[in-house]
Amino acid sequence: MRLTAPPRSTSFFSLIALPATLGLLVIAYLIALSKRPNIPKSAQIEDPHQWGFPKWYGKSATPYDYSSATLGSDEKICEHPKTVLLFIDLPYDSPRIPSALNVLSTLQSSNRFNVSVISTFSPDWNSDLSIRQNLEVAGCESKDWIWRIGDYTESSDLGCDKALWIEEEMNKPGKANVSLLSQPHHLLRQDTTHGSLQTTNGDQWELGLLTAVLPAEHASLNEGLIYDSSPHVFYPSRRVTSRRSVLYLPSRSTSPKEYPRLPWGRTWSIYSPSRRSPPQIKQGEDPFSDKSAWKKFWLKEERRLASAIRDAGICLFEGWPRGQLDDRIVKAMLSGCIVATVPPQTHHDAFLPLFIPLARPASVALEPKLPVQDLTHVLSTYSNSQLQHLALKAFITARNRLVPASRLKSVENAVTIWEGGGRGYDFKDGFRWDCDSGHGGWCN
Ligand SMILES: *[C@@H]1O[C@H](CO)[C@@H](O)[C@H](O)[C@H]1NC(C)=O
Ligand SMILES: *[C@@H]1O[C@H](CO)[C@@H](O)[C@H](O)[C@H]1NC(C)=O
Repeated sequence: MRLTAPPRSTSFFSLIALPATLGLLVIAYLIALSKRPNIPKSAQIEDPHQWGFPKWYGKSATPYDYSSATLGSDEKICEHPKTVLLFIDLPYDSPRIPSALNVLSTLQSSNRFNVSVISTFSPDWNSDLSIRQNLEVAGCESKDWIWRIGDYTESSDLGCDKALWIEEEMNKPGKANVSLLSQPHHLLRQDTTHGSLQTTNGDQWELGLLTAVLPAEHASLNEGLIYDSSPHVFYPSRRVTSRRSVLYLPSRSTSPKEYPRLPWGRTWSIYSPSRRSPPQIKQGEDPFSDKSAWKKFWLKEERRLASAIRDAGICLFEGWPRGQLDDRIVKAMLSGCIVATVPPQTHHDAFLPLFIPLARPASVALEPKLPVQDLTHVLSTYSNSQLQHLALKAFITARNRLVPASRLKSVENAVTIWEGGGRGYDFKDGFRWDCDSGHGGWCN
């Protein structure tokens, strides 16, 4: 009788038993994971601090995107696109160039429009001819619309009367059929009253439609594009390490010598916009082609700004006491940076809850001090979870209302009003102009 068992031969079964059991465990774990109840979406929107941001945040199209609501009948193949001549009447180094390029790419990507572009720095601009002649050479007489951005050339005799003129970024608005103002309360300025417009433009002039449209910025994804093939740069970071850090953003035109002194400590930092000028446009080079060094320069500047505001908790822009909703604020909202500002008058009730409200300084000095105490105090009234919620809410609103597609729609609506005989001042809902804006002149 043998008491010892014979040495077992290592069977095939025993070789795979352990890995197979492990594998089964992993599969069981994965099944358990997939059956785990999902975090309700509403909870993630109410409290991203606790539940994490919704999975589309900074990654993909959101359920709130403007375009997802309007893609459909509106965007069907358009057989007769409107022909538009975009006249970018700005110097080649104007800080307004990025928003003009936005208008261009928005028109290019919409199938309702067939756009061509001209500018004093285009290769086909002939400086021996008048501006009017240049526009004629560009075929303005056969266009449906001429969309002029800026009035750098200061010319008002532009001809091309068959087309409908749209203008924005004007020092002296009111000449075109449809004038787009950047702030609704500019409709009430001294220099846009009917009387003063008539003095500027002469007796033959007729009042068109003056209206205000919201600013807009291209939204973007981490790795991909939503609306069109133009470059997108503004999207939020899913992890902001220091939600209470404040980034102060001076304007491009402000000299570093005039930058305000930041309070001591690690929570404040300053963004220095590049001081470089864009490259000169070479002879014969098309500045508006994707390959142009000039266009790449602007894109690079925007990318640099985007990555700074994406990582900041709070954004404070130079000019915060003016309380104006502008494209810088939109960029911050799309990038998940909470904006601290005197609350804008524009769509006041809708937008007020999206900002950290600052008090208007008693006097708007040339160089107002940083609102350090005020901001620290207001911030102390917010919990971390409220701050994360605010960032998400502002992001959702921007994606819904402050993207180029929605802005283009507002412009088309204004044109429709004009075509229906609408003349005068278009006061939209949500419009208010009170002492808080600091512009009234009746408040002191
Ligand atoms: C756009 O307009 C140009 C000339 O104005 C024309 O050659 C081209 O076919 C048009 N494109 C579309 C899509 O209509
Ligand atoms: C735009 O306004 C001008 C001046 O009031 C007018 O002559 C022109 O016909 C208008 N454009 C269109 C398309 O009606």
